[in-house]
Amino acid sequence: MAASSETRIPIGRALPGYHVHLVDDDMQPVPLGWPGQILVSGAAVAAGYLNNESLTREKFIINRSPSSLTSRGYLTGDMARMLTDGSLVYIGRIESDSQIKLRGIRIELNDIAASIIKTSDGVVANAAVVVRDAEQNSFLVAYVVFSANKAPSDPAQYLEQLLPELPLPVYMRPAQGIPLDRLPMSASGKLDRKALSALELPSNPIHTPASKSTVDSLSQTEHRLKGVWDEALGHTGIPITKRSNFFATGGNSLLLLKVQAGILQEFGQRIALTELFRASTLASLATTIESSIGTTAEDMTDQVASSSSSINWLVETDAGDLSEWTKPQQMAILTRNTASLTVVVSGATGFLGRAIVNQLQELGNVSQIHCVAVRNLESDAARLLEQSTDKVVLHAGDLSLPFLGMLEEEARLLFSEADVIIHNGADVSFMKPYESLRAPNLGSTKEFVRLVAPRQVPFHFVSTAGVGLLAGKDVVEECTISSTDAASSLSQVDGYIASKWASETYLENATHRTGLPVQIYRPSSITGDGAPALDILHNVLQFSRQMRAVPEMTRWRGHLDLVDVHLVARGLVHRAIIAEPVEESRITVLHLSGEQVIPVEDAKQYLEKETGYRFRILSIEGWVVEAERLGLHPLVGAYLRTIASREEPIYFPRLQTSMKW
Ligand SMILES: NC(=O)c1ccc[n+]([C@@H]2O[C@H](COP(=O)([O-])OP(=O)(O)OC[C@H]3O[C@@H](n4cnc5c(N)ncnc54)[C@H](OP(=O)(O)O)[C@@H]3O)[C@@H](O)[C@H]2O)c1
Repeated sequence: MAASSETRIPIGRALPGYHVHLVDDDMQPVPLGWPGQILVSGAAVAAGYLNNESLTREKFIINRSPSSLTSRGYLTGDMARMLTDGSLVYIGRIESDSQIKLRGIRIELNDIAASIIKTSDGVVANAAVVVRDAEQNSFLVAYVVFSANKAPSDPAQYLEQLLPELPLPVYMRPAQGIPLDRLPMSASGKLDRKALSALELPSNPIHTPASKSTVDSLSQTEHRLKGVWDEALGHTGIPITKRSNFFATGGNSLLLLKVQAGILQEFGQRIALTELFRASTLASLATTIESSIGTTAEDMTDQVASSSSSINWLVETDAGDLSEWTKPQQMAILTRNTASLTVVVSGATGFLGRAIVNQLQELGNVSQIHCVAVRNLESDAARLLEQSTDKVVLHAGDLSLPFLGMLEEEARLLFSEADVIIHNGADVSFMKPYESLRAPNLGSTKEFVRLVAPRQVPFHFVSTAGVGLLAGKDVVEECTISSTDAASSLSQVDGYIASKWASETYLENATHRTGLPVQIYRPSSITGDGAPALDILHNVLQFSRQMRAVPEMTRWRGHLDLVDVHLVARGLVHRAIIAEPVEESRITVLHLSGEQVIPVEDAKQYLEKETGYRFRILSIEGWVVEAERLGLHPLVGAYLRTIASREEPIYFPRLQTSMKW
């Protein structure tokens, strides 16, 4: 749950005689940094309400309190987060009508309103968000009041552009924006949400009467495409217009496969999934379909490959925003107590992240491991917590958000204590376009640097061997890849690799500008139990073993470079914690690769030797069909089909490494 920026109030610590715990709905303590209800216990807590047994039973808890608590506790109905120094930040009342649950996710509506106002940069003076119901579905509607002197000429169009670009997770982005002259207030001067929810939604959704870009002005292609979306999404109740974003209207990667099949049926066109990810609005996808009619599959593939060619990479990787940290007098010198290190890690819930945290826990000189931008306590985070010691502290957040989704106070406090940063988290998706990966991958790197540059905290960044493709060499050395080398190849690589290269280059610029010591790690293909479900090479190897058949790789060139996840984690943790700290003003690169290097043409032989069986060679299409029958994820199948349709060879460059495994 996010905290409302309007109600973030530091409230210090418990008074003497009281203990404060933050608990979840099941009365279990929440991790540090996580929002929870304040439960007060201690000798000074009253016995209950006078003459009100039912309320006493509800609010005063005896014997069903968290394990650490043996006395009576009082549930205050107030929400707070605990900061690393033990102090509390008040979030709001638990019964607050601004906190809702939408499709199982708790959402703070005031955060969305605050984000609209902030992102509009003065155009929106006030905003409120409510959840509305249509048919069997709920969706978010934003009501906005424009500033008198900055109101846009086409308010509806302005909102259509603003809302999908809010720096919020997709599920928090309102599906509709409606301009109002003023927000309704109750007699006590508070926002009257009931009155807002009672307002009739415009019959022509999203738009004001002034707007022309309405549902009935959809082009013929858009109209037919909308039918395909409706079919894939079911009845979400969220209105679909030209500028609707598939992912903001309830779509996800798997539903995109349905859209792909629907487009094939409706238009007779096969649109590559990477292109579907890129053209995620109704209008842009309709344009893509129109331009694909009469276009060959090869032309389409070229369009996919060059989807990021319009980006100005100099601007993208510029570290000019760090100018305030270039003055030495503003930098506090980092005094690192090497006997008791505080390490901040991102991506701790992932495949490599869990291995890194496990290694860090083993080290006597690491006293605290702060896992930041943890998205979902119920999923992998719960698993991480089960395996971890009390050195591990989880902080809720998201890599795409300012301050990595933490409260500003929490982020500043945390980074003022950090001795080492390991930025390992990333959206690892080969299908998504660069534009979708910019915020979680490059944006998070910039956010980290902004938080650590003032103290020059050594920064360890997990990149990928894939950036080696941009070096334009058969053998890639352990050094940074300059913009000049990469320029001609950036449009040929997928958005994920581009986002990693952009992060590396931004870090290089940041080091030159501020002196920030940076270590870049480029792991090759990481193997081991728990590899991400969509990891391409892992799937190819696993299903090949199962089927005793390899896909035909005649257009694949170079080497498959495999390295075990625990070795990667060990190599990284050794360099980050045990080895000499990275020197100031230096950026160095380490290739975590080369444990097992298999020339692509020997892959079949390698698997035969490993398993003792003979292997068949299947066409990529034949291999995918057979693997899908055995459970290959449809997105992996779709990706393999996409690359199979490309004419040009697929390269796996050889990485030089100084690691001795
Ligand atoms: N696996 C490989 O073969 C390989 C090779 C080279 C480089 N790498 C790099 O190694 C790092 C770890 O990869 P992995 O294989 O461990 O992948 P993974 O299992 O998918 O882990 C990615 C981690 O990043 C987190 N994350 C993604 N988007 C986020 C967001 N918007 N906000 C907060 N957290 C977010 C994930 O959180 P959730 O748990 O919430 O999803 C997860 O903890 C990545 O930087 C990747 O580029 C991996």
